[in-house]
Amino acid sequence: MTRGAQPRHAVGRRDVLRLFGLGAVAAAGAQGCSLLTGTPQPQLLTSAAPLPRPYAVPLPIPEVARPVRSAGEVDFYELTGRAAEAELLPGLRTTVWGYGGTFPGPTIRARSGRRTVVKLTNRLGEPTVLHLHGGHTPPESDGFPTDLVAPGASREYVFPLEQRAATLWYHDHRMDYTGPQVWRGLAGMFLVGDAEEEALPLPSGERDVPLLICDRSFAADGTLLYPALEGRPGVREAYMGGVLGDVILVNGAPWPELRVARARYRLRLCNASNARAYELSTGGAMVQIGSDGGLLASPKPVRQIRLAPGERADVVVDFSAYRVGQHVELRNLAGEGAQARVMRFAVDRDESDDSAVPARLSTVEALDPARATVTRDFEFSSGSMHGGTGWLINGRPFDAARMEARPKLGDIEIWRLTSDVAHPVHLHLDQFQVLSVNGERRQGAPEWKDTVELRDAQTVEIVTRFTDYRGRYVLHCHNLEHEDMAMMAAFEVV
Ligand code: C2O
Ligand code: CU
Repeated sequence: MTRGAQPRHAVGRRDVLRLFGLGAVAAAGAQGCSLLTGTPQPQLLTSAAPLPRPYAVPLPIPEVARPVRSAGEVDFYELTGRAAEAELLPGLRTTVWGYGGTFPGPTIRARSGRRTVVKLTNRLGEPTVLHLHGGHTPPESDGFPTDLVAPGASREYVFPLEQRAATLWYHDHRMDYTGPQVWRGLAGMFLVGDAEEEALPLPSGERDVPLLICDRSFAADGTLLYPALEGRPGVREAYMGGVLGDVILVNGAPWPELRVARARYRLRLCNASNARAYELSTGGAMVQIGSDGGLLASPKPVRQIRLAPGERADVVVDFSAYRVGQHVELRNLAGEGAQARVMRFAVDRDESDDSAVPARLSTVEALDPARATVTRDFEFSSGSMHGGTGWLINGRPFDAARMEARPKLGDIEIWRLTSDVAHPVHLHLDQFQVLSVNGERRQGAPEWKDTVELRDAQTVEIVTRFTDYRGRYVLHCHNLEHEDMAMMAAFEVV
């Protein structure tokens, strides 16, 4: 078991790629700045590998992890982080870093209130940290970015899961290296169920489909590309806005296809990309039933769903609206060319369907901003850091030892988040509710979120309440290149 902080710059950011041996990107490419702001924007990495035709590969469904043992109210899982070969692109071998050697890692299906213990063994040859994104987790198991699991070591993460049913995910959270380590494959889905959700007639079993969506780029031999930081001037800066891949993967497969019956399906959409936001649409009707923090109070018909990195949405699509033989594309309206495609559903059979989407799904308590004890400001912007440029919160780069806020356990607080360019902001420990965007009150029923996207030059007010656990946690930008370039702050619940 490894604990405690390591010196922040034991290994400089510039060494990341040498350590990884990821394919190097030769040129800085296009200029990485927005003309308007001069602030770095995400940059597209172009693959050299031959890419498959869209919808030629079947959608893989990650294996559901089985507990190694269960005792009373506790389930024990073992996960090993290790390198493995995978066929992501047809005919090419790609070395991935995976939980259990797979990318995505196995899906963990856990239950609210059942203690879930995950023993992570690190066979990666590099330090790692495990974080359950959206988990209501005590601090020692939350994957604080300096709580490293050293190569060869293991650590038990305890997730009490005293929380609602929700679509969560787990991923690497190592300080300064989350971007490259997640890019390599260290991510998986973590679905929490509970009695309330089970009592609903929602689509289940094979018709409850996790869709972990991310973008990647590949060298000619199938190696995952990631910007080389090998001291070549300008390369690191060119990609500090975020790395975009040109291949859209769903559950690790490029633009896959899923055969579906003429029936309702629950799709658990998770944006696991480093820096790409999606606007997902089937071109037809979708009903949103859940958000980051679980079920909505009632279903919401939507035409499209925007998901920034880290965000999730549960939607139900009723394929009985289509004929056998029809194809339904899931498109990304925020992308162009190949990046406007995500996957396709091939409607290939009739099947009976006794599922339904009831008019009432759950009860969502509204956090009352009038009861807030304090309003805190967090400004997300680029600025100078250690003699270069980085991403800052309130003008400062991440310092694991400095607490940016000390919220009191159980207090309602308003956190006012302000951006220069787009930043998906994620808080650990508890879900929050969005109050207003640029001063405009959010309409509609409250919903629980753990990640909210600030668009360019926005102010988003959220109402928070931290419960059950005292200790230190982080908030950060979930654009992983921003996060690695220090856009993170620690807070301590007291
Ligand atoms: Cu999904 Cu702090 O991370
Ligand atoms: Cu950011």
